Amino acid sequence: MAKILKLNEISEVANKEFPAGYEFSADVKAPDGIMLRSFNMHEYPLNDELLAVARAGAGTNNIPIPACTEKGIVVFNTPGANANAVKELVICELFLGGRKIVDAIEWVKTLKGTEGLSKAVEKGKSKFVGHEITGKTLGVIGLGAIGVAVANAAAGLGMKVLGYDPYLSVSGALHLDTRVEVVGLETVLKNANFITVHVPLTPDTEKMFNADTFAKMKDGSVLINNSRGELADSAAVLAAVESGKLERYITDFPSDDLIGAKNVICVPHLGASTPEAEDNCAAMAARELVDYIENGNITHSVNFPDVCAPRASAARVCVMHENVEGVISKITSAVSAAGINIANLLDKSKKDKAYMILDLDSKPSDKVVKEIEALDKVIRVRVFA
Ligand code: MLT
Repeated sequence: MAKILKLNEISEVANKEFPAGYEFSADVKAPDGIMLRSFNMHEYPLNDELLAVARAGAGTNNIPIPACTEKGIVVFNTPGANANAVKELVICELFLGGRKIVDAIEWVKTLKGTEGLSKAVEKGKSKFVGHEITGKTLGVIGLGAIGVAVANAAAGLGMKVLGYDPYLSVSGALHLDTRVEVVGLETVLKNANFITVHVPLTPDTEKMFNADTFAKMKDGSVLINNSRGELADSAAVLAAVESGKLERYITDFPSDDLIGAKNVICVPHLGASTPEAEDNCAAMAARELVDYIENGNITHSVNFPDVCAPRASAARVCVMHENVEGVISKITSAVSAAGINIANLLDKSKKDKAYMILDLDSKPSDKVVKEIEALDKVIRVRVFA
């Protein structure tokens, strides 16, 4: 039975998803699977038995993806499972971006014990006049599950919404409110009063908000970043806030230089901190691990293609391989040469890696499996019978 190591506290609902006999604890040795939230795995040993790592959340920058990929370890995330929680925080931050509510609440605290309090309140409140969001333009950068949810909710609140995503999926497009206009990045930067960013942190997106980006934005705009702190260059943010280019910067990722800066609101990474989101993420991550461990099915992986089919034949062989010419035919030839009929074959690639599910009419011998394992460009082979 499989052993799953948890590297963070994970909602109890995950337990219900594991078949009887699975071990799921923080003390597991030589795990088949790992489940984590924000634990930094970059220096963590990857044992040879490890088949998969599942992040109960969207971002995977705390996981050494290239090292996992090279060892044939599938990395899963849980797209959409915390989308509602993050969407609700963004909606709250849109209001905090338009109105000076945070500063005003702090100011009211200074009035404790004041004689004639209501007069003092009425006199001082003019410093905290703000804007409404209805009728303003919101730019949503990244239209994955969270971006789409935010865009639709903002359209419902009467904002004009411009969305940008060079990798917009068919599902994302289908779920997008018809009032959301999908445009180029420059159009978003030029026209938005508010911008919210929902993209993963990668070498391409790191510091995507920098002095050049801010120069293209409207004066007095509001930037909301609940994705990862490194998407914005802090020094450029502080300069933009200082010059008035940004009226406010709101982030779920505090850094020392941002804390306490005027017109910067730092939230302590609360985007997905609701029991509802934690339950959803834990259950989805557990289901992904179980389906991979038990059936070889891959759903929502960030480093291997999604390849998934119901089990319908006597045996299944799953082969992880390099995405290069000739490998598929060598694998199928090894099976056919052993006189085994291939009932179904699925093979998909993601960048330079590929994954094959071969459903067979009979179980291949150890010799055939060893032959496939020995093929050049084959990374990992698993057999289910
Ligand atoms: C995510 O990556 O899903 C969010 O930042 C929330 C989290 O890290 O748990």
